[in-house]
Amino acid sequence: MSNIVGYIGKRNALPIVIEALKRLEYRGCDSAGCAIIHDNKLQIYKKPGKIVDLERSLPEPNLCSGSVAIAHTRWATHGEPSEVNAHPQIDCYGKIAIVHNGIIENYIPLKKQLIELGHQFISDTDTEVIAHLIEQYRTSEPTIQEAIRVALSKVEGTYGLAILCEDEPDQIFAIRKGSPLIVGIGDNEHFIANDVSAIVIHTKRVFYLQDDELCILKGDYFEITNGFREKVKPQVSTVDWDISAIEKGPYKHFMLKEIFEQPISVDNAFRGRIDESSGNARLGGLKLTPQDISKIEQIHLVGCGTSYHAALIGKYMIEDFARIPVQVEFASEYRYRNPIIQDNTLIFVISQSGETADSLAALREAQSKGAKVYGITNVVGSSIARESNGGSYIHAGTEIGVASTKAFTSQITILFLLSILLGRQRNLSSIQGLEYIRELQRIPAKIESILQQSEYIREIAETIKDSHNAMYLGRGINYPVALEGALKLKEISYIHAEGYAAAEMKHGPIALIDKEMPVIAIATNDPLYDKIHNNLEEVYSRKARLITITNEGNTELENISERVIYLPSTLQNLQPLLTVIPLQLLAYYVADLKGLNVDQPRNLAKSVTVE
Ligand code: G6P
Repeated sequence: MSNIVGYIGKRNALPIVIEALKRLEYRGCDSAGCAIIHDNKLQIYKKPGKIVDLERSLPEPNLCSGSVAIAHTRWATHGEPSEVNAHPQIDCYGKIAIVHNGIIENYIPLKKQLIELGHQFISDTDTEVIAHLIEQYRTSEPTIQEAIRVALSKVEGTYGLAILCEDEPDQIFAIRKGSPLIVGIGDNEHFIANDVSAIVIHTKRVFYLQDDELCILKGDYFEITNGFREKVKPQVSTVDWDISAIEKGPYKHFMLKEIFEQPISVDNAFRGRIDESSGNARLGGLKLTPQDISKIEQIHLVGCGTSYHAALIGKYMIEDFARIPVQVEFASEYRYRNPIIQDNTLIFVISQSGETADSLAALREAQSKGAKVYGITNVVGSSIARESNGGSYIHAGTEIGVASTKAFTSQITILFLLSILLGRQRNLSSIQGLEYIRELQRIPAKIESILQQSEYIREIAETIKDSHNAMYLGRGINYPVALEGALKLKEISYIHAEGYAAAEMKHGPIALIDKEMPVIAIATNDPLYDKIHNNLEEVYSRKARLITITNEGNTELENISERVIYLPSTLQNLQPLLTVIPLQLLAYYVADLKGLNVDQPRNLAKSVTVE
C-alpha cells in the first residue's frame, strides 16, 4: 500500500526520507514523491516508477536542502500511476502538501463542491480533496490545526496523513484514522512512518498514533491532541529490532531468504509454547482459562490472501483434534455479511501485517457485536495486535517479500498449537498431545531436508516456466496447500494458476487439461492417498504433465509423473508445513527464471491497508 514517511530535525531531511521510503518500497510502489521546505518555500518532487526514478530526478542537493520533509510511495487506488497522481498532493497555491495512505470514500461530492467554490484540481486522486479542503478552511479558521480538523470532519474514509504547510514551515502535522502511523523520537528530531522498519535505523523509541489523534511535530517538541481538543500523553515504547532482518544477506531475493528461514521461523513459532509434561500447548496471549476453553462452541477464522489459506488449514486441524465446528471466511466478506456470532464463538483474525484493512474491519465488526476477537499476527504493535482481545504473535521475523512464505508456515504452526490446546480439553489424551507435539518439534529438520532439494525444484521450474496455465491439486488438508501453491505461482510469475480439491476436477476443470498443462499434485501418505491417486490417473490419461509431491518410499507415482518430489513423512495435520515448501520454491524459481521482480510483483502490495 501507500507508504508515508517524514522527518523534522537538524539534519538534511531529503536523504533521510528517501532512504526511509526505500526500506518500505517492498510493500508496493508505482510512483513516489516528496515535499521539502527549502528556503521557507514548499518544494514538491514526484515521479512515476520506483524510488530511484524519483531520486534521479531531484535537483542538486543545495537546491533542495532543508530540515523538514515528507515523502510517499503510492500504490494506485484512484487514478493511474503518473506524476500528477503521485503524492504529495497540493492545494491551489502549492502551499499545503499532503501524503496519504487510505481511501477518501466521499471524494467525488467533495471535489464537486470544491470545484464550485473555485478550486482547481489537477489529479484524479481522492487525496487531493484534503489539500483543497484545508486550503478552504484555512481562511475561516483561526489556526491551521482548526482548518485540518474542520477539513477532516467532512471526509469519510480512512487515512494516515502527513501534512506540510509553507505558512508553518517548522512543523509537520500527522493524523490517522484507520491507517497506521508511527512517530519516532530521536535526539532533537522526529520521524513519521506507517511502518517502524522505515525509521528504526534512526531511533528505537516510538509511539503509535491512535485514530483521530493529531500530532504536531517540531524538531525538539511534539504535541498530541485527541479529536484535536484534549492533549494526550503517548505510550512510548522501545522497539526490539535487528536491522539484519531487513537485509537480503547472501540471497538473491528476500523471498528466497524467507523460504530458507522457515526451519528457524517455525521453531520460533512453537518455542516456549509447549508443555511436554501435560502434552499440551501454551498460548498465554489468548488469556483463556480452561473454563473459557471448555465453553467454546464454534470458531470463526478470518483472513485475506495467504492468511486465509492458513485459516483453511486451521479448520482441518481444529475440527480434527477438538471437534469444534470452524467457519473460515475472507475478511472482506465477513465484515459486510452481518455474520452470526453466538455466545461462546471464538473469533480469530489471522494477518501477517496486522494492518490489512479488511481484516481490521472484520475484527471491529465482530467486536461491535460483543464478541471477543483474537489476533494471530506477525507485526508487533500492529493495529490488529493492539485492538484484539488477546492473541498470539507468530514470531516469524520481518517478512519483506510480497509473496508471503514464512509467515504462512508460522501461522499454521500457531493454529496447530491452538488445535492441540482446544483438543486437549476435549478429545486428546496427554499421550496423543505429546506425540503430536514431538512430531511438531521434528518439523524444522524436515523442512531443512526439503530445502536441500532446491536445485532439483529449480530444474522442474525450468520445465514449466513457459506455460500459460497451471493447475494445483490436493485433497483434505492439502487442498488449501494447493490453493496456496497456485496463489504463489500466479502472484510472482504471472502464470495463470488455479488450485482445486482433486476430486472436484472432474466437475469442470478437467476440460482444461491437455498436454501443455502442468498439473502439480500433492499426494502424501494419508487416508486419502488412494483417492487422489485415482484422480491423478484421470489427469494422466488426459496427457497432462504431472508433477507430483509424495512421501519418500512411495515410488508408484513415477509411472504417471514427469517429475516426483519426495518429502519426509509426518502427521497428517502437519503435512502442510512440508508440502507447501516445494510449492514456494517452484513459484520462486519460475519467477526468477523469467527474470521477474520476485520481491515486488506488479500491482501487488505487501500490506493492503485500503479495502
Ligand atoms: C497482501 C499480500 C499477501 C497477504 C495478504 C494478507 O495481498 O500480498 O501476501 O497474504 O495481503 O495480508 P496479511 O498481512 O493480512 O496477512
